[in-house]
Amino acid sequence: MTGSGVRCDRTVAWAALAGHFEGHGRDLDLIDAFARDPARVELLSVEAPEVYADLSKNLIDRSTLRMLLELARECGLEARRDAMLAGAPVNLTEGRAVLHTALRVPRAHDELTARVLSARERMLSFAREVRLTDRSGITDVVHLGIGGSDLGPQMAVQALTNGADSPLRLHFVSSLDAQEIEHVLRALDARRTLFVVASKTFSTQEVLSNLRIAREWMRHCGVDEPGRHFVATTASPQAAARHGITRCFEFWDWVGGRYSMWSSIGLPIALACGVEAFEEMLAGAHEMDGHFASAPLERNLPVLLGLLDLWYRNFHRFTSRSVAPYCNGLRRLPAYLQQLEMESNGKCVDMGGEPLPFGTSPVVWGEPGTNGQHAFFQMLHQGTDVVPVEFIAARRAPGSDEAAHRMLLANCFAQSQALMLGKRFEEARAEKAPTASASIDPDVLARHRSFPGNRPSTTLLIDALTPRALGALVAMYEHRVFTSGALWGINSFDQWGVELGKALCNELLPRLESGDTQGLDASTAALVQRVRR
Ligand code: F6P
Repeated sequence: MTGSGVRCDRTVAWAALAGHFEGHGRDLDLIDAFARDPARVELLSVEAPEVYADLSKNLIDRSTLRMLLELARECGLEARRDAMLAGAPVNLTEGRAVLHTALRVPRAHDELTARVLSARERMLSFAREVRLTDRSGITDVVHLGIGGSDLGPQMAVQALTNGADSPLRLHFVSSLDAQEIEHVLRALDARRTLFVVASKTFSTQEVLSNLRIAREWMRHCGVDEPGRHFVATTASPQAAARHGITRCFEFWDWVGGRYSMWSSIGLPIALACGVEAFEEMLAGAHEMDGHFASAPLERNLPVLLGLLDLWYRNFHRFTSRSVAPYCNGLRRLPAYLQQLEMESNGKCVDMGGEPLPFGTSPVVWGEPGTNGQHAFFQMLHQGTDVVPVEFIAARRAPGSDEAAHRMLLANCFAQSQALMLGKRFEEARAEKAPTASASIDPDVLARHRSFPGNRPSTTLLIDALTPRALGALVAMYEHRVFTSGALWGINSFDQWGVELGKALCNELLPRLESGDTQGLDASTAALVQRVRR
């Protein structure tokens, strides 16, 4: 195994953790844990570049932490991390290195990073040109991409513009449902529109379909040289050329799609937010890379988060984790993290192809917390399942209403408090509830109005939502996913699970036209017939 290591369940620490879980881990009481250990906040809060993390409201204590760190060492996590950072082919099934960290270096130090810097400079100088809108004539950029070629740039553009003025309007189109692109194009002037066609492979059905529609629209609008309005960001410039796009900003096969917003796939970020913002975002990520590479494991934030993921998934058997940004700019972060985490770690065999006897990626889901509070937080507080929650907030929101920002922070902290503290039956019984039915039995009402509490959460605080902070935050998530994947002994860098549906779609497409249902399962045959009626 590259960056050789031991699978988590084959370590001595795993057995120790299992005993510890049965002994008192399962029943750890947070309020009690704070009372027993006055240094708990200090022990379980970490200062990483741009990100302060309060892990103290999680269901661990000193001994859990010690055993989890022991597990990381026994699994050879540090050697695996070093192998990835050194460019070993850790993506075993595709025989590729995994070097998104090289995309963030500030200076070239070898041939590979020299190529990175020169490609970056080409892409950024194009962004500079286009942003001079009086000269470029461009006012709108339509970005066609999907998955990793859409979620990262879209999330970052939202985070870093967040309603602020930009010389260019950015539009993201990912869906195969043509209504999306049709809606976007309706409002645009073709002569002032640039299409960025983003696809690592340049073979993705959704992107190629939207490219065809965009081209037809250009022709229909009578634009003289439509070719000048299309550029590609891709690792397959030959494929882009076959589709008639010759102006390409390249990246490489050692950049995974979901790890690609740091490459030319990030072009829309530079277009919308400026070259300096893009470089700052890289700088933040690079700082986090340094932290991941060298901070001792017990103070290493991505490592600690990855260990917590394992503890919750494999011992507590929690099946999901909710992400609640209290920061409107981060409203697409949960969607971005769904791909990052679930496409990376949603695997059921280990590196050697052996079926795994334990759970891997949890379901990652979420929404901005301020909306979530009025929707699904009910379930987080009183539902039958425990869902660890990750709160993300910015200490300051420069230029925004201060009173509203204080309220936002108070809500964020109050939710993590409420999850942990809960409300006992006696407390609920002693309260008056003005909206409760006058005829209900007070004991019954108190049972409805009490909260179990002891529900875990993590709070991640950045100073402000700057490009640097965003870069650091996203890199932290990438390394956390690497950590849990490495402990589970899986390949976090392939995604074979998306292939079968694509292949079956290619078989079904002609059947929708011909109506031939021979050999299909009965359910699918009925669906095909139904849409052809
Ligand atoms: O179908 C999944 C996937 O391959 C993702 O891994 C990837 O980010 C996305 O499709 C888009 O792929 P591409 O950038 O090659 O168009």
